[in-house]
Amino acid sequence: MLQPWPDLDPLLGQAAEQFGTPSYLYVVDRIGLRLAELEQNFGQWFRLSYAVKANPNPALLAWLRGRVPYLDVSSIGEVRRAIRAGWPAAALSFTGPAKRVAELEEAIAVGIGELVLESVAEAEAANTIAGVARVRQRVLVRLAPDHVPKGFGDHMAGRPSPFGIDVEEALEALPQIASMQHLHIVGFHIYSGTQSLKSAAVVENWRIFLAQFRRFCDLIDLEPERLVFGSGLGIPHHVGDVPLNTAEVAAQIAEDLEQFRQESRFADTEFLLELGRHLVGEAGVFLARVLRIKPSRGAQIALCDGGMNAHLAATGQFGMVLRRNYMLHRVDGGEPCAKYDLHGPLCTSIDRLAAGAELPSLAPGDIIAVHSSGAYGPTASPMNFIGHPYPRELIAEGDRISDATPWTT
Ligand SMILES: Cc1ncc(COP(=O)(O)O)c(C=O)c1O
Repeated sequence: MLQPWPDLDPLLGQAAEQFGTPSYLYVVDRIGLRLAELEQNFGQWFRLSYAVKANPNPALLAWLRGRVPYLDVSSIGEVRRAIRAGWPAAALSFTGPAKRVAELEEAIAVGIGELVLESVAEAEAANTIAGVARVRQRVLVRLAPDHVPKGFGDHMAGRPSPFGIDVEEALEALPQIASMQHLHIVGFHIYSGTQSLKSAAVVENWRIFLAQFRRFCDLIDLEPERLVFGSGLGIPHHVGDVPLNTAEVAAQIAEDLEQFRQESRFADTEFLLELGRHLVGEAGVFLARVLRIKPSRGAQIALCDGGMNAHLAATGQFGMVLRRNYMLHRVDGGEPCAKYDLHGPLCTSIDRLAAGAELPSLAPGDIIAVHSSGAYGPTASPMNFIGHPYPRELIAEGDRISDATPWTT
């Protein structure tokens, strides 16, 4: 169980004082707890693959080395970052619907573990490049199922989608890819829904994966080395969100996975759970300082030194259908006694971190901690918009905080 953030206020206060705001603090002990929980619930079946896009901080990638066996990368920039952080290229699999030829060339040249092919056209390009490089490139084929259960925050399949090969097309596409001389299909990959807090939805989705994996391995008579389950495991972001019960997911899917593993085709298959936010999201907070309080027409507006420019997702602009406040608190705060609208420094009304948030009384200098901010933070935000300083990125290990900011402003 992760500790509630207000219990860590001394650490949060120290981070803000020592390194300034706006800043992100990633508490790696919390990632360690999450890893232990995942191992306990899923370790008997799955190994993990961390999706770098969720948080590509170099120091974090270095910390994860040796703790997570594989990375999912989605651009050549992420490939380079992972390698610079000490990861062997062989531990990386490369997803992404629109990989450029130069990216495929570089990925194959550095010895990427697997290319995750998202179309026949991409397979053809990869086959040509691998031929020129005189290698037989390991590939996973990404499938896009025709159905995604209700209960996910975003769907990447089940409708027209840029991601993966639609299962309706795969009957024709797979034999074509399997016949490409310079590609070696080692398995399949599905990531069709993300941010689910509903165990029944995750279980139903994984059952769909199992059925599709079985069907397409039969089609090309493949004994897969690897099958990647895009996990869809979500995290609570908003007031009132009930955390996903992963023990329940494990209990409900156990029989299906056991049966699947007993089929001789899958006896030596490695199952991977590919996940981003569930691993790192709840390990991070965003810290912003209140600069001014402006009463306006009955509302109390707290103007903060970081907002949408530093944390787009918390302002509800990162693919949310309904804008709801992220969970947050005032560091060293007392009981909530008033409602505040929290705005960032940008000259746009959408730069709002929270509307009507119940907080203790705020004054200039107070620090606001926005929870569940360890994923899709700085790199998913318009940091250049209006030219404010980029947020700092800090890592806490025990009570030691270090500056892990990867850029300068
Ligand atoms: C292919 C792929 N893998 C992994 C992820 C990580 O998703 P999440 O952070 O929700 O686990 C995504 C998210 O978009 C993705 O597209």
